[in-house]
Amino acid sequence: MAKQELLKVEGLKQYFPIKGGFLGRTVNHVKAVDDISFTVYEGETVSIVGESGCGKSTTGRAILRLEEPTEGTVEFRGTNLASISKKEMRKFRKDLQIIFQDPYASINPRQTVSSVLSEAMEIQDVLPASKRRARVEELLETVGLLPYQADRFPHEFSGGQRQRIGIARALSVDPQLIICDEAVSALDVSIQAQVLNLLEELQEEYNLTYLFISHDLGVVRHISDRIIVMYLGKIVEIADKESLFDNQKHPYTKALLSAIPVPDPDRKKERIVLRGDVPSPIDPPTGCRFHTRCPFATDKCIQEEPVLRTAGNMKEGHQAACHYIEEIAAGTKESIY
Ligand SMILES: Nc1ncnc2c1ncn2[C@@H]1O[C@H](COP(=O)(O)OP(=O)(O)OP(=O)(O)O)[C@@H](O)[C@H]1O
Ligand code: SF4
Ligand SMILES: [Mg+2]
Repeated sequence: MAKQELLKVEGLKQYFPIKGGFLGRTVNHVKAVDDISFTVYEGETVSIVGESGCGKSTTGRAILRLEEPTEGTVEFRGTNLASISKKEMRKFRKDLQIIFQDPYASINPRQTVSSVLSEAMEIQDVLPASKRRARVEELLETVGLLPYQADRFPHEFSGGQRQRIGIARALSVDPQLIICDEAVSALDVSIQAQVLNLLEELQEEYNLTYLFISHDLGVVRHISDRIIVMYLGKIVEIADKESLFDNQKHPYTKALLSAIPVPDPDRKKERIVLRGDVPSPIDPPTGCRFHTRCPFATDKCIQEEPVLRTAGNMKEGHQAACHYIEEIAAGTKESIY
């Protein structure tokens, strides 16, 4: 069966104005997301990874229009969410849900679980009031909690259980796409695995599509079908999970992956430590944004921005934005490190 496009992001930019001077004029912009394009197909899990501040959450928020995108289109089932009115956008709110890192922060501590879940259903008008209580109990069972817990308050739950409530709340409106922004990052490793398994089961059962935002490559390896690597507001590599972990091409991806511990002590891995800090997104480097830290950078990298492309032994759909994919793979490109 042909893959169905669910979400198609094209040329997305999110610039945040910086006000300054005594007139409070816009003096500059934080280029948090700077011209990114990608497609998410129905039923798959696409992850976005990258260091803190590279624009992962901003991408998620711009898709949901929690922030008004500066430029670009966000097509959801063929409708450009970035151009419709706020009123029209309300109709799509139930289809696109988000789960945050800290379930406690996004759940009102004075509301019982039942009231949190019923409220979501009421706002989106998914069920008549008389049927909501039964649905709440069913949802709690779906996420591995117990029906009687519906009358409890958020503080009576553990972190993992609260994240299950967050998932139940997202599910209560029958969404198609769930954006998980660091959804398991605050949880202990064993609890993380349980919540990830739950997300996978739910995906299967309800044909959900996930956009999974995380800085944790271990988690991403567990859950993803495809992975997008971001650096300073740009996509530097995009590939299916196997290609990304076994045949990554971009020097930044290589450095990022070299930092994950290998479980097998016989397989030695060299850790690539990048020099310097991530530059400011207010005044990003010219050409390839990674050139200030890349061991292979040349004058061309400083001048010309590389485009995402497939080269050499890369599988279809695997793309990296680097001028020297071939040379680095062949080992003929000298490293300055
Ligand atoms: N509302 C805002 N106004 C100004 N700058 C912002 C705003 N939101 C985010 N930024 C900036 O945009 C950049 C990208 O932020 P974003 O939160 O998307 O990063 P992230 O990849 O999610 O990072 P983390 O892993 O820490 O969550 C950062 O430099 C951040 O400071
Ligand atoms: S284009 Fe140049 S600076 Fe950018 S990743 Fe490739 S070699 Fe490094
Ligand atoms: Mg974030």
